[in-house]
Amino acid sequence: MKTMNMEDRLTDKLLKKDTLIGIIGLGYVGLPLVLRFCEEDFRVLGLDIDSKKVATLKKGKSYLKSILSSRISRFIQSGHLDVTNDFSRLDKPDCILICVPTPLTEKMEPDLQYIENTTEAIRQNLRKGQLIVLESTTYPGTTEELILPKLESTGLKVGKDFFLAFSPEREDPGNKRFMTHQIPKVVAGVTPSCQKVVTTLYSQIIKKVVPVSSPRVAELTKLLENIYRSVNIALVNELKMLTDRMGIDIWEVIEAASTKPFGFSPFYPGPGMGGHCIPIDPYYLSWKAREYDFTTRFIFLAGEINVHVPYYVVAKIQDALNERGKSIKGAKILILGVAYKKDVDDARESPALAIMDLLQKKGAVILYHDPYIPSLPSFRKYSFKLKSSPLTEQLLSRIDAAVVVTDHSIDYRRIVKLVPLIIDTRNVTKGMDRYKKKIVKA
Ligand SMILES: NC(=O)c1ccc[n+]([C@@H]2O[C@H](COP(=O)([O-])OP(=O)(O)OC[C@H]3O[C@@H](n4cnc5c(N)ncnc54)[C@H](O)[C@@H]3O)[C@@H](O)[C@H]2O)c1
Repeated sequence: MKTMNMEDRLTDKLLKKDTLIGIIGLGYVGLPLVLRFCEEDFRVLGLDIDSKKVATLKKGKSYLKSILSSRISRFIQSGHLDVTNDFSRLDKPDCILICVPTPLTEKMEPDLQYIENTTEAIRQNLRKGQLIVLESTTYPGTTEELILPKLESTGLKVGKDFFLAFSPEREDPGNKRFMTHQIPKVVAGVTPSCQKVVTTLYSQIIKKVVPVSSPRVAELTKLLENIYRSVNIALVNELKMLTDRMGIDIWEVIEAASTKPFGFSPFYPGPGMGGHCIPIDPYYLSWKAREYDFTTRFIFLAGEINVHVPYYVVAKIQDALNERGKSIKGAKILILGVAYKKDVDDARESPALAIMDLLQKKGAVILYHDPYIPSLPSFRKYSFKLKSSPLTEQLLSRIDAAVVVTDHSIDYRRIVKLVPLIIDTRNVTKGMDRYKKKIVKA
Protein backbone atom coordinates (compact mmCIF):
# COMPACT_ATOMS: atom_id res chain seq x y z
CA MET A 1 0.00 0.00 0.00
CA LYS A 2 1.30 3.50 -0.92
CA THR A 3 2.00 5.67 2.15
CA MET A 4 0.93 9.29 1.95
CA ASN A 5 3.59 11.98 2.20
CA MET A 6 3.19 15.00 4.50
CA GLU A 7 1.81 17.20 1.71
CA ASP A 8 -0.85 14.69 0.59
CA ARG A 9 -1.82 13.99 4.18
CA LEU A 10 -2.47 17.66 4.99
CA THR A 11 -4.24 18.25 1.66
CA ASP A 12 -6.47 15.26 2.31
CA LYS A 13 -7.30 16.46 5.84
CA LEU A 14 -8.10 19.94 4.53
CA LEU A 15 -10.42 18.60 1.85
CA LYS A 16 -12.22 16.53 4.49
CA LYS A 17 -12.26 19.56 6.85
CA ASP A 18 -10.71 17.28 9.40
CA THR A 19 -8.20 19.89 10.59
CA LEU A 20 -7.80 22.37 13.40
CA ILE A 21 -7.01 25.89 12.19
CA GLY A 22 -5.01 28.12 14.56
CA ILE A 23 -5.34 31.88 14.10
CA ILE A 24 -2.94 34.15 15.99
CA GLY A 25 -4.02 37.78 16.51
CA LEU A 26 -7.79 38.18 16.82
CA GLY A 27 -8.17 41.77 15.59
CA TYR A 28 -9.75 43.34 12.52
CA VAL A 29 -8.08 40.77 10.28
CA GLY A 30 -7.91 37.65 12.45
CA LEU A 31 -11.46 37.63 13.79
CA PRO A 32 -13.31 37.70 10.42
CA LEU A 33 -10.98 34.93 9.26
CA VAL A 34 -11.83 32.83 12.34
CA LEU A 35 -15.53 33.15 11.53
CA ARG A 36 -15.01 32.36 7.87
CA PHE A 37 -13.32 29.02 8.72
CA CYS A 38 -16.04 28.21 11.30
CA GLU A 39 -18.73 28.96 8.71
CA GLU A 40 -17.16 26.33 6.47
CA ASP A 41 -17.30 23.78 9.30
CA PHE A 42 -13.64 23.91 10.33
CA ARG A 43 -12.62 23.77 13.98
CA VAL A 44 -10.67 26.87 14.95
CA LEU A 45 -8.36 27.72 17.83
CA GLY A 46 -8.01 31.51 18.17
CA LEU A 47 -4.94 32.81 20.03
CA ASP A 48 -4.27 36.32 21.31
CA ILE A 49 -2.01 37.81 23.97
CA ASP A 50 -4.83 40.17 24.99
CA SER A 51 -6.57 38.24 27.76
CA LYS A 52 -9.52 40.69 27.73
CA LYS A 53 -10.24 39.82 24.10
CA VAL A 54 -9.91 36.11 24.85
CA ALA A 55 -12.36 36.37 27.78
CA THR A 56 -14.86 38.39 25.71
CA LEU A 57 -14.79 35.88 22.86
CA LYS A 58 -15.12 32.94 25.25
CA LYS A 59 -18.37 34.52 26.46
CA GLY A 60 -19.52 34.58 22.82
CA LYS A 61 -19.26 38.36 22.60
CA SER A 62 -17.75 40.62 19.98
CA TYR A 63 -15.54 43.69 20.54
CA LEU A 64 -15.75 44.89 16.93
CA LYS A 65 -18.71 46.94 15.70
CA SER A 66 -18.51 45.25 12.31
CA ILE A 67 -19.04 41.78 13.84
CA LEU A 68 -22.25 40.80 15.65
CA SER A 69 -21.88 38.81 18.89
CA SER A 70 -24.37 36.25 17.54
CA ARG A 71 -21.87 35.27 14.84
CA ILE A 72 -19.35 34.37 17.57
CA SER A 73 -21.61 32.82 20.23
CA ARG A 74 -23.00 30.41 17.62
CA PHE A 75 -19.58 28.86 17.07
CA ILE A 76 -18.52 28.91 20.73
CA GLN A 77 -21.69 26.97 21.56
CA SER A 78 -21.30 24.52 18.67
CA GLY A 79 -17.71 23.83 19.74
CA HIS A 80 -16.27 24.98 16.40
CA LEU A 81 -14.40 27.80 18.12
CA ASP A 82 -12.09 27.78 21.10
CA VAL A 83 -10.03 30.79 22.17
CA THR A 84 -6.91 30.92 24.33
CA ASN A 85 -3.85 32.87 25.38
CA ASP A 86 -1.99 29.66 26.12
CA PHE A 87 0.57 29.50 23.30
CA SER A 88 1.83 26.06 24.34
CA ARG A 89 -1.27 24.79 22.52
CA LEU A 90 0.32 25.83 19.20
CA ASP A 91 1.35 22.24 18.52
CA LYS A 92 -2.34 21.30 18.10
CA PRO A 93 -3.45 23.15 14.92
CA ASP A 94 -2.55 21.71 11.51
CA CYS A 95 -2.51 25.19 9.99
CA ILE A 96 -1.45 28.37 11.79
CA LEU A 97 -2.31 31.80 10.37
CA ILE A 98 -0.45 34.83 11.73
CA CYS A 99 -2.51 38.07 11.81
CA VAL A 100 -0.54 40.20 14.28
CA PRO A 101 0.14 43.96 13.94
CA THR A 102 2.97 45.36 11.82
CA PRO A 103 3.30 49.01 12.90
CA LEU A 104 6.22 51.44 12.59
CA THR A 105 8.68 52.49 15.25
CA GLU A 106 9.05 56.15 16.27
CA LYS A 107 11.73 56.41 13.56
CA MET A 108 9.24 55.19 10.92
CA GLU A 109 10.97 51.83 10.57
CA PRO A 110 9.22 48.42 10.54
CA ASP A 111 8.38 47.27 14.06
CA LEU A 112 8.57 43.51 13.70
CA GLN A 113 8.39 42.60 17.39
CA TYR A 114 4.90 41.08 17.03
CA ILE A 115 5.89 38.84 14.14
CA GLU A 116 9.11 37.92 15.94
CA ASN A 117 7.35 37.02 19.19
CA THR A 118 4.76 34.97 17.36
CA THR A 119 7.41 33.15 15.33
CA GLU A 120 9.23 32.29 18.53
CA ALA A 121 6.02 30.88 20.08
CA ILE A 122 5.43 28.78 16.96
CA ARG A 123 9.08 27.65 16.87
CA GLN A 124 8.84 26.35 20.42
CA ASN A 125 5.85 24.19 19.51
CA LEU A 126 6.46 23.38 15.83
CA ARG A 127 5.70 19.81 14.84
CA LYS A 128 5.85 17.82 11.63
CA GLY A 129 3.01 18.36 9.16
CA GLN A 130 2.06 21.93 10.15
CA LEU A 131 1.41 24.75 7.69
CA ILE A 132 2.36 28.27 8.85
CA VAL A 133 0.99 31.27 6.93
CA LEU A 134 1.89 34.89 7.51
CA GLU A 135 -1.01 37.28 6.73
CA SER A 136 0.34 40.51 8.26
CA THR A 137 1.37 43.21 5.81
CA THR A 138 5.15 43.47 5.56
CA TYR A 139 8.18 44.05 3.29
CA PRO A 140 9.24 41.55 0.63
CA GLY A 141 11.49 38.97 2.23
CA THR A 142 9.93 38.74 5.70
CA THR A 143 8.63 35.19 5.29
CA GLU A 144 11.84 33.75 3.87
CA GLU A 145 14.45 35.91 5.63
CA LEU A 146 12.93 36.24 9.08
CA ILE A 147 10.46 33.42 9.72
CA LEU A 148 11.97 30.55 7.72
CA PRO A 149 15.44 30.45 9.39
CA LYS A 150 13.85 30.55 12.84
CA LEU A 151 11.50 27.67 12.09
CA GLU A 152 14.24 25.62 10.43
CA SER A 153 16.45 26.12 13.50
CA THR A 154 14.29 23.38 15.06
CA GLY A 155 15.92 20.91 12.66
CA LEU A 156 12.67 20.52 10.70
CA LYS A 157 12.89 21.19 6.92
CA VAL A 158 10.48 23.42 5.00
CA GLY A 159 8.54 21.66 2.23
CA LYS A 160 9.33 18.30 3.76
CA ASP A 161 8.53 18.42 7.49
CA PHE A 162 6.47 21.62 7.65
CA PHE A 163 5.03 24.15 5.20
CA LEU A 164 5.44 27.93 5.11
CA ALA A 165 3.59 30.54 3.04
CA PHE A 166 2.54 34.17 2.79
CA SER A 167 -0.97 35.33 1.97
CA PRO A 168 -1.83 39.01 2.40
CA GLU A 169 -5.08 40.04 3.99
CA ARG A 170 -7.42 42.29 2.02
CA GLU A 171 -9.94 42.99 4.75
CA ASP A 172 -11.83 46.28 4.31
CA PRO A 173 -13.63 46.97 7.61
CA GLY A 174 -17.08 48.44 7.15
CA ASN A 175 -17.31 47.39 3.48
CA LYS A 176 -20.68 45.74 3.04
CA ARG A 177 -20.24 45.10 -0.68
CA PHE A 178 -17.45 42.53 -0.42
CA MET A 179 -17.54 39.72 2.12
CA THR A 180 -14.31 37.89 3.03
CA HIS A 181 -15.14 34.88 0.82
CA GLN A 182 -15.71 37.10 -2.23
CA ILE A 183 -12.32 38.81 -2.12
CA PRO A 184 -9.72 36.93 -4.21
CA LYS A 185 -6.76 35.82 -2.09
CA VAL A 186 -3.14 35.92 -3.27
CA VAL A 187 -1.06 33.03 -1.93
CA ALA A 188 2.59 31.95 -2.25
CA GLY A 189 4.38 29.01 -0.68
CA VAL A 190 8.10 28.85 0.01
CA THR A 191 8.33 25.55 -1.93
CA PRO A 192 5.99 23.90 -4.50
CA SER A 193 4.53 21.64 -1.80
CA CYS A 194 3.94 24.67 0.47
CA GLN A 195 2.18 26.28 -2.51
CA LYS A 196 -0.06 23.28 -2.96
CA VAL A 197 -1.21 23.07 0.66
CA VAL A 198 -1.71 26.81 1.09
CA THR A 199 -3.81 26.93 -2.11
CA THR A 200 -5.92 24.03 -0.84
CA LEU A 201 -6.36 25.72 2.54
CA TYR A 202 -7.74 29.00 1.22
CA SER A 203 -9.78 27.32 -1.53
CA GLN A 204 -11.94 25.93 1.27
CA ILE A 205 -13.07 29.40 2.37
CA ILE A 206 -12.44 31.82 -0.54
CA LYS A 207 -14.00 31.68 -4.00
CA LYS A 208 -10.89 32.63 -5.92
CA VAL A 209 -7.33 31.88 -4.85
CA VAL A 210 -4.52 33.53 -6.84
CA PRO A 211 -1.21 31.65 -6.57
CA VAL A 212 1.95 33.66 -7.31
CA SER A 213 5.51 32.46 -7.76
CA SER A 214 7.08 33.44 -4.41
CA PRO A 215 6.28 34.92 -0.99
CA ARG A 216 8.23 38.06 -1.99
CA VAL A 217 5.85 38.61 -4.92
CA ALA A 218 2.85 38.17 -2.59
CA GLU A 219 4.36 40.48 0.02
CA LEU A 220 4.99 43.19 -2.56
CA THR A 221 1.52 42.72 -4.09
CA LYS A 222 -0.07 43.86 -0.84
CA LEU A 223 2.29 46.80 -0.57
CA LEU A 224 1.60 47.84 -4.17
CA GLU A 225 -2.13 47.88 -3.44
CA ASN A 226 -1.63 50.19 -0.47
CA ILE A 227 1.02 52.39 -2.11
CA TYR A 228 -1.30 52.83 -5.11
CA ARG A 229 -3.97 54.20 -2.75
CA SER A 230 -1.54 56.38 -0.84
CA VAL A 231 -0.11 57.98 -3.99
CA ASN A 232 -3.51 58.59 -5.60
CA ILE A 233 -4.98 60.05 -2.43
CA ALA A 234 -1.96 62.36 -2.20
CA LEU A 235 -2.51 63.42 -5.81
CA VAL A 236 -6.12 64.52 -5.23
CA ASN A 237 -5.22 66.09 -1.90
CA GLU A 238 -2.57 68.21 -3.61
CA LEU A 239 -4.98 69.12 -6.40
CA LYS A 240 -7.64 70.17 -3.89
CA MET A 241 -5.22 72.65 -2.33
CA LEU A 242 -4.55 74.09 -5.79
CA THR A 243 -8.21 74.15 -6.89
CA ASP A 244 -9.11 75.90 -3.65
CA ARG A 245 -6.88 78.81 -4.70
CA MET A 246 -8.27 78.67 -8.23
CA GLY A 247 -11.87 78.73 -7.04
CA ILE A 248 -12.68 75.36 -8.63
CA ASP A 249 -14.57 72.61 -6.79
CA ILE A 250 -12.34 69.50 -6.88
CA TRP A 251 -15.33 67.25 -6.13
CA GLU A 252 -17.11 68.42 -9.25
CA VAL A 253 -13.94 67.83 -11.29
CA ILE A 254 -13.56 64.26 -9.97
CA GLU A 255 -17.22 63.52 -10.61
CA ALA A 256 -16.87 64.71 -14.21
CA ALA A 257 -13.61 62.79 -14.79
CA SER A 258 -15.25 59.62 -13.40
CA THR A 259 -17.63 59.53 -16.36
CA LYS A 260 -14.68 58.37 -18.49
CA PRO A 261 -15.34 54.64 -18.90
CA PHE A 262 -11.66 53.65 -19.11
CA GLY A 263 -8.27 54.70 -17.75
CA PHE A 264 -9.56 56.66 -14.75
CA SER A 265 -10.33 55.46 -11.23
CA PRO A 266 -11.64 58.11 -8.87
CA PHE A 267 -9.89 58.87 -5.59
CA TYR A 268 -11.26 61.47 -3.22
CA PRO A 269 -9.54 64.12 -1.12
CA GLY A 270 -10.01 64.21 2.63
CA PRO A 271 -8.67 65.59 5.91
CA GLY A 272 -5.39 63.64 5.63
CA MET A 273 -4.68 59.97 5.42
CA GLY A 274 -5.85 57.59 8.11
CA GLY A 275 -6.00 54.00 9.21
CA HIS A 276 -3.30 51.64 10.26
CA CYS A 277 -2.42 50.37 6.76
CA ILE A 278 -2.15 53.07 4.11
CA PRO A 279 -0.15 55.65 6.12
CA ILE A 280 2.15 52.92 7.48
CA ASP A 281 2.68 50.05 5.05
CA PRO A 282 4.43 52.02 2.25
CA TYR A 283 7.31 52.73 4.65
CA TYR A 284 7.93 49.00 4.97
CA LEU A 285 8.97 49.08 1.33
CA SER A 286 11.01 52.29 1.52
CA TRP A 287 12.91 50.79 4.46
CA LYS A 288 13.68 47.61 2.50
CA ALA A 289 14.58 49.64 -0.62
CA ARG A 290 17.52 51.17 1.27
CA GLU A 291 19.18 47.75 1.25
CA TYR A 292 19.26 48.10 -2.57
CA ASP A 293 20.58 51.72 -2.58
CA PHE A 294 17.19 52.85 -3.75
CA THR A 295 15.00 55.76 -2.66
CA THR A 296 11.26 55.31 -3.16
CA ARG A 297 10.45 58.91 -4.02
CA PHE A 298 6.74 58.47 -4.75
CA ILE A 299 6.20 56.94 -1.32
CA PHE A 300 7.91 59.82 0.46
CA LEU A 301 6.22 62.49 -1.65
CA ALA A 302 2.78 60.98 -1.06
CA GLY A 303 3.53 60.71 2.66
CA GLU A 304 4.69 64.33 2.79
CA ILE A 305 1.55 65.64 1.07
CA ASN A 306 -0.86 63.50 3.09
CA VAL A 307 0.80 64.45 6.39
CA HIS A 308 0.46 68.13 5.44
CA VAL A 309 -3.33 67.99 4.83
CA PRO A 310 -4.40 68.32 8.52
CA TYR A 311 -2.34 71.56 8.67
CA TYR A 312 -4.15 72.79 5.56
CA VAL A 313 -7.53 71.96 7.15
CA VAL A 314 -6.58 73.83 10.33
CA ALA A 315 -5.51 76.85 8.24
CA LYS A 316 -8.90 76.79 6.49
CA ILE A 317 -10.66 76.70 9.89
CA GLN A 318 -8.53 79.60 11.08
CA ASP A 319 -9.31 81.67 7.95
CA ALA A 320 -13.03 80.93 8.18
CA LEU A 321 -13.16 82.02 11.83
CA ASN A 322 -11.04 85.08 11.04
CA GLU A 323 -13.50 86.17 8.35
CA ARG A 324 -16.19 86.05 11.01
CA GLY A 325 -14.08 88.17 13.37
CA LYS A 326 -13.09 85.24 15.57
CA SER A 327 -9.84 83.62 16.54
CA ILE A 328 -9.06 79.94 17.05
CA LYS A 329 -7.99 80.70 20.60
CA GLY A 330 -11.02 80.14 22.76
CA ALA A 331 -13.23 79.01 19.84
CA LYS A 332 -15.51 76.02 20.53
CA ILE A 333 -14.92 73.59 17.69
CA LEU A 334 -16.90 70.41 17.19
CA ILE A 335 -15.16 67.61 15.29
CA LEU A 336 -17.63 65.41 13.44
CA GLY A 337 -16.20 61.89 13.11
CA VAL A 338 -12.91 60.77 14.65
CA ALA A 339 -12.74 57.25 13.16
CA TYR A 340 -10.24 56.90 10.33
CA LYS A 341 -13.02 56.18 7.87
CA LYS A 342 -16.76 56.13 7.37
CA ASP A 343 -18.91 53.93 9.62
CA VAL A 344 -16.07 52.10 11.39
CA ASP A 345 -15.22 52.14 15.11
CA ASP A 346 -11.45 52.45 14.72
CA ALA A 347 -9.62 55.76 15.29
CA ARG A 348 -6.02 54.50 15.00
CA GLU A 349 -3.90 56.87 12.88
CA SER A 350 -6.99 58.96 12.15
CA PRO A 351 -6.26 62.45 10.75
CA ALA A 352 -8.91 63.70 13.21
CA LEU A 353 -6.36 63.22 15.98
CA ALA A 354 -3.77 65.41 14.25
CA ILE A 355 -6.39 68.10 13.54
CA MET A 356 -7.63 68.07 17.15
CA ASP A 357 -4.09 68.26 18.46
CA LEU A 358 -3.21 71.23 16.22
CA LEU A 359 -6.40 73.07 17.17
CA GLN A 360 -5.87 72.44 20.86
CA LYS A 361 -2.31 73.76 20.64
CA LYS A 362 -3.73 76.95 19.16
CA GLY A 363 -6.05 77.31 22.14
CA ALA A 364 -9.34 75.98 20.70
CA VAL A 365 -11.83 74.19 22.94
CA ILE A 366 -12.41 70.83 21.28
CA LEU A 367 -15.52 68.67 21.39
CA TYR A 368 -16.26 65.72 19.18
CA HIS A 369 -19.14 63.58 18.03
CA ASP A 370 -18.71 60.06 16.70
CA PRO A 371 -21.53 57.50 16.92
CA TYR A 372 -18.96 54.68 16.70
CA ILE A 373 -16.44 55.98 19.24
CA PRO A 374 -18.12 56.88 22.56
CA SER A 375 -14.84 57.89 24.20
CA LEU A 376 -11.34 58.47 22.86
CA PRO A 377 -8.73 55.99 24.12
CA SER A 378 -5.01 56.85 24.23
CA PHE A 379 -3.10 56.49 20.98
CA ARG A 380 0.51 56.10 19.91
CA LYS A 381 1.01 59.89 19.67
CA TYR A 382 -2.06 61.49 21.24
CA SER A 383 -4.12 61.30 24.37
CA PHE A 384 -7.41 63.23 24.63
CA LYS A 385 -9.66 62.75 27.61
CA LEU A 386 -12.89 63.30 25.71
CA LYS A 387 -16.27 61.66 25.28
CA SER A 388 -18.51 61.89 22.24
CA SER A 389 -21.00 64.75 22.68
CA PRO A 390 -24.60 64.13 21.65
CA LEU A 391 -25.72 66.37 18.78
CA THR A 392 -28.30 68.34 20.71
CA GLU A 393 -29.79 71.53 19.29
CA GLN A 394 -28.23 73.42 22.18
CA LEU A 395 -24.75 72.12 21.45
CA LEU A 396 -24.93 72.74 17.71
CA SER A 397 -26.06 76.33 18.12
CA ARG A 398 -23.51 77.04 20.88
CA ILE A 399 -20.31 76.08 19.02
CA ASP A 400 -18.26 78.39 16.80
CA ALA A 401 -17.62 75.82 14.09
CA ALA A 402 -18.16 72.17 13.18
CA VAL A 403 -15.55 70.30 11.17
CA VAL A 404 -16.56 67.24 9.14
CA VAL A 405 -13.55 64.94 9.38
CA THR A 406 -15.16 61.52 8.91
CA ASP A 407 -18.30 61.21 6.82
CA HIS A 408 -20.23 58.76 9.02
CA SER A 409 -23.85 58.21 8.02
CA ILE A 410 -25.47 60.97 10.11
CA ASP A 411 -27.96 63.76 9.34
CA TYR A 412 -25.74 66.55 7.98
CA ARG A 413 -28.63 68.68 6.77
CA ARG A 414 -29.84 69.12 10.37
CA ILE A 415 -26.30 69.95 11.53
CA VAL A 416 -25.71 72.50 8.76
CA LYS A 417 -29.02 74.14 9.58
CA LEU A 418 -28.09 74.62 13.24
CA VAL A 419 -24.36 75.41 13.30
CA PRO A 420 -22.97 78.90 12.57
CA LEU A 421 -20.08 77.56 10.44
CA ILE A 422 -19.18 74.17 8.96
CA ILE A 423 -15.82 73.14 7.53
CA ASP A 424 -16.41 70.22 5.19
CA THR A 425 -13.49 67.96 4.21
CA ARG A 426 -15.71 65.21 2.74
CA ASN A 427 -18.24 66.96 0.51
CA VAL A 428 -21.15 65.94 2.75
CA THR A 429 -22.68 69.39 2.17
CA LYS A 430 -23.01 68.76 -1.56
CA GLY A 431 -26.30 70.21 -2.81
CA MET A 432 -26.88 72.34 0.32
CA ASP A 433 -26.47 75.60 -1.59
CA ARG A 434 -29.09 77.28 0.59
CA TYR A 435 -26.52 77.34 3.38
CA LYS A 436 -23.50 78.17 1.27
CA LYS A 437 -22.55 81.24 3.36
CA LYS A 438 -21.73 79.04 6.33
CA ILE A 439 -20.10 76.17 4.40
CA VAL A 440 -16.34 76.12 3.81
CA LYS A 441 -14.87 73.21 1.85
CA ALA A 442 -11.44 72.20 3.07
N1 LIG B 1 -7.35 46.14 9.59
C1 LIG B 1 -7.26 46.10 8.28
O1 LIG B 1 -8.10 46.65 7.58
C2 LIG B 1 -6.12 45.37 7.60
C3 LIG B 1 -6.27 45.06 6.25
C4 LIG B 1 -5.27 44.36 5.61
C5 LIG B 1 -4.12 44.00 6.30
N2 LIG B 1 -3.98 44.33 7.63
C6 LIG B 1 -2.77 43.88 8.30
O2 LIG B 1 -3.10 42.77 9.13
C7 LIG B 1 -2.28 42.77 10.29
C8 LIG B 1 -3.16 42.79 11.53
O3 LIG B 1 -3.93 43.98 11.53
P1 LIG B 1 -5.23 44.18 12.41
O4 LIG B 1 -5.89 45.41 11.91
O5 LIG B 1 -6.02 42.92 12.49
O6 LIG B 1 -4.58 44.48 13.84
P2 LIG B 1 -5.32 44.49 15.26
O7 LIG B 1 -4.51 45.35 16.14
O8 LIG B 1 -6.78 44.75 15.09
O9 LIG B 1 -5.21 42.97 15.75
C9 LIG B 1 -4.02 42.36 16.04
C10 LIG B 1 -4.23 41.43 17.22
O10 LIG B 1 -2.99 40.74 17.45
C11 LIG B 1 -2.82 40.60 18.85
N3 LIG B 1 -1.41 40.35 19.10
C12 LIG B 1 -0.37 41.19 19.14
N4 LIG B 1 0.77 40.53 19.36
C13 LIG B 1 0.45 39.23 19.48
C14 LIG B 1 1.21 38.05 19.71
N5 LIG B 1 2.53 38.10 19.86
N6 LIG B 1 0.55 36.89 19.77
C15 LIG B 1 -0.79 36.86 19.60
N7 LIG B 1 -1.56 37.93 19.37
C16 LIG B 1 -0.93 39.10 19.32
C17 LIG B 1 -3.38 41.88 19.43
O11 LIG B 1 -3.72 41.73 20.78
C18 LIG B 1 -4.59 42.12 18.52
O12 LIG B 1 -5.76 41.52 19.05
C19 LIG B 1 -1.36 43.98 10.16
O13 LIG B 1 -0.18 43.55 9.54
C20 LIG B 1 -2.12 44.89 9.22
O14 LIG B 1 -1.26 45.74 8.53
C21 LIG B 1 -4.96 45.00 8.29
